[in-house]
Amino acid sequence: MRIIIDTPEKIAEMAALRYVELLSQKPNAILGLATGSTPIGLYKELVKLNREGKLSFKDATTFNLDEYVGLEPTHDQSYRYFMNENLLSHVDVPTEKTHVPSGIDLTKAASYDSEIAAAGGIDLQLLGIGNNGHIGFNEPGTPIGSTTHLVELTQSTREANARFFGSIDDVPTQAVTMGIKTVMNAKSIILIALGKGKAETIKNTLQGEVTPEVPASILQLHPDVEVYLDHEAASLLD
Ligand code: GLP
Repeated sequence: MRIIIDTPEKIAEMAALRYVELLSQKPNAILGLATGSTPIGLYKELVKLNREGKLSFKDATTFNLDEYVGLEPTHDQSYRYFMNENLLSHVDVPTEKTHVPSGIDLTKAASYDSEIAAAGGIDLQLLGIGNNGHIGFNEPGTPIGSTTHLVELTQSTREANARFFGSIDDVPTQAVTMGIKTVMNAKSIILIALGKGKAETIKNTLQGEVTPEVPASILQLHPDVEVYLDHEAASLLD
């Protein structure tokens, strides 16, 4: 596990270079993408590099981590909408090669992992982290062998994400998420955490015991993880 501590701006630039490198070596790479406020800086950088002709997604395929149950793709808080707005509609990736789990047809969750495998498996999985250590929407206690599945969101996650909705009552109570095993199957992983609010969970994730109670701690067992932290998120590390 490699830990890089820098400013959010530098992190966005450095992480973007990983995509330049990967897509130049393997133009048809399979990218695992994430939502939340954390990757927005990176996505801006990727859009810029794509416009400048420095990287192309034209042969790439993308699979997103998760989606809220009950939100149509056109709902402005759905993760499909988020991805289109922040990245996918602004780069040259063919829409049919972009995948976000369906929050409407829940029967599709069962085949998400096999779709990923059929595409060749994820080359680079991007992750943010929830305040309670969740990755995707894998809440504390999620079994490490889990594949894409339906989850009940915890109250703390719904509260944390209420800032994007009118009120907490509007935050869906369920989501579909890649499982821990789905994430761990990725060949390489980038985790980004920004801000003081993530400091404690980052300490537990990187320096605590590996336990399903801190879902991201399993990343300690993955052979190729890069963790990008700003100084605040890194502030409690030894
Ligand atoms: C949601 C997403 C996660 C994300 C987390 C943190 O719960 N499902 O993938 O990492 O939010 O979001 P933020 O980056 O806004 O702190």
